[in-house]
Amino acid sequence: MIEGQLIVVEGIDGSGTTTQCSFIAERLRDKGLPAHTTREPSDGPIGVLIRQVLTGRVITPGRHGARSPSWATMAALFAADRLDHLEAEINPNLADGVTVICDRYDHSSVAYQTVSSGGSSDVSKWVRDLNRRARRPDLTLVLDVDPEVAAKRRRNRSGAPELYEVGEMQVALAEFYAKIDELFPDDTIVHVDANRDVGEVTEAIWAEVTKLRGESA
Ligand code: TYD
Repeated sequence: MIEGQLIVVEGIDGSGTTTQCSFIAERLRDKGLPAHTTREPSDGPIGVLIRQVLTGRVITPGRHGARSPSWATMAALFAADRLDHLEAEINPNLADGVTVICDRYDHSSVAYQTVSSGGSSDVSKWVRDLNRRARRPDLTLVLDVDPEVAAKRRRNRSGAPELYEVGEMQVALAEFYAKIDELFPDDTIVHVDANRDVGEVTEAIWAEVTKLRGESA
């Protein structure tokens, strides 16, 4: 059995990663190819805990007041979730020959936890080290979008803003993602202009996926 390929889609909040992940999977399935979409934080036990933190559901005021866990705690939780996600869901699917399309991966940890820590290169190195046992994707697509465009898309969604959905942080994250390749020199990373219409972004992504599969578009 030939192993499946791992495709990761990355970008700031509102860049369209979730939508594009399902479009890639749909197109692969239309061609008769098995595809599985998944996301990080995952739907496993650690991922569920992280989502509760992101939406503020488990931050109860203690003796020293209410606070969110620090960037270091979050980095450790995300790294643990990633290993569990790989063991429980990603690796078994890849072993079955299924293409796995993952909405966010360790590039998100390096970007979000570094930016939320204040942005030092020591932190990004530490976060990369924490994730050293996470297998490398075959292809990572970074959806580059203007922070204002992404903010507008987020406003059209229901629900309260999550932990990192703060304007200033998203601007810093967009700058970080623009240069993320420098921190992952051995990865295959392709940037896609995601300011465009959803369909145009899908076409640009599909061209990269067909290239990865060694086919013509
Ligand atoms: P997101 O992917 O936007 O999911 P949803 O659409 O369900 O809200 O939310 C996940 C948030 O977690 C997003 O703000 C990015 C952040 N994140 C990190 O900070 N580090 C990580 O390693 C990952 C995977 C996500």
